[in-house]
Amino acid sequence: MTYDEARAKMSAIGQEHVFKYYDGLSEEGKTALIRQVEETDFSVLKRLGNPSGEKRGVFSPLGALKTSEIEARAKEFHDIGVKTIKEGKTAALLLAGGMGTRLGSDEPKGMYDIGITKPLYIFERIIGNLLDVVKETGTWIRLFIMTSEKNHDATVRFLKEKDFFGYREDRVLFFKQDMAPACDFEGRLFLEAKDRISTSPNGNGGWYSSMCRAGLDRLLSDEGVEWINVFAVDNVLQRILDPCFVGATVLENVSVGAKVVKKATPDEKVGVLCLEDGRPSIVEYYELSDEMMNEKDESGERAYNYGVILNYLFRLSELPSVADDRLPLHIVKKQIPCIDENGREVKPEAPNGYKFEQLVVDMIHQLSSCLPYEVVREKEFAPIKNLTGIDSVESARELLKKNNIEL
Ligand code: UTP
Repeated sequence: MTYDEARAKMSAIGQEHVFKYYDGLSEEGKTALIRQVEETDFSVLKRLGNPSGEKRGVFSPLGALKTSEIEARAKEFHDIGVKTIKEGKTAALLLAGGMGTRLGSDEPKGMYDIGITKPLYIFERIIGNLLDVVKETGTWIRLFIMTSEKNHDATVRFLKEKDFFGYREDRVLFFKQDMAPACDFEGRLFLEAKDRISTSPNGNGGWYSSMCRAGLDRLLSDEGVEWINVFAVDNVLQRILDPCFVGATVLENVSVGAKVVKKATPDEKVGVLCLEDGRPSIVEYYELSDEMMNEKDESGERAYNYGVILNYLFRLSELPSVADDRLPLHIVKKQIPCIDENGREVKPEAPNGYKFEQLVVDMIHQLSSCLPYEVVREKEFAPIKNLTGIDSVESARELLKKNNIEL
């Protein structure tokens, strides 16, 4: 793309100001800015003031496979799970492309040290959990790690330096997720440097399309992988590809298995797995009417009672139909680092604009069936979003201690 073409592209969408500093840039800076204009998809900006507009359908409850039922069938599930893993039919995907802004660290979240008397990194906990299954099954499961342009180099450098915490390096594959532009509340693009438009990772729902763009869907099918366990970086207690979960999902013959925990209170702020117009879906806590919150199932338990914890086992053959252009776009208020009118760097303390994201939860509704699989909250759910308070380093440390994990 030439400078004139880049300028025409931006003026057509009223964003010519991104060239404000162009004349004073080095040749390298000029080329980088033009390349970014060429490569970035700015169509998301059109959705401002016209968000995905998805009208929700009719919700109905979706029963979960409860811990008591899992215990009763543990051997059956476990044996099928181990067999599936040993046959090389499973892979794991760590979603580590997020910015972790709430935690307030400039480094990738997985590099955060949650130890007290010794270092214990988030990545170390996650990999340690997967290693348990590797040891049990004698199978080096492929581990994919999704990063973003913002944290890729630091993530790769750190894991290499730490020898992948004992994981076999040749079984780990990184790929970068796509980026989306970020803008102020009036829809004007921010610059993060004089030669760079502000962009941010396009949300964890972009994982499948980003994986395909990296050619990794072909690799998975060539290797005969049928299931992929997709999980967040910040839950330091979750089990990954635990054989019972794998076995139950395979046996129930569903499109996706989703780990869920029983809600702590009926109004807890978690998304609840249910059906929407007969298809699996997640109803957000603010969408739950009082009536739904109090509805009971035949056993007398609340009918909308199981919240998702971002740990899903997807059947790979169903994913090509989950195209990213079918996923709703979420427009989220965030703190976006930028340069001001005078070219000075600004790190805002409060949200100053919008980011555009697609979310993995929205993929569930594109699939035909889902198994909500209950796990015990105290044993498997210790997300780290903040430094202190709810879902924090503090609360995760308490839960790790309760699970006898040395800190
Ligand atoms: P969060 O929703 O907690 O977002 O991500 P975040 O960006 O990490 O944190 P905040 O909101 O800025 O504080 C849940 C999971 O999804 C991944 C995260 O790395 C985490 O594992 N994620 C999120 C991505 O991989 N890409 C994204 O664009 C966003």
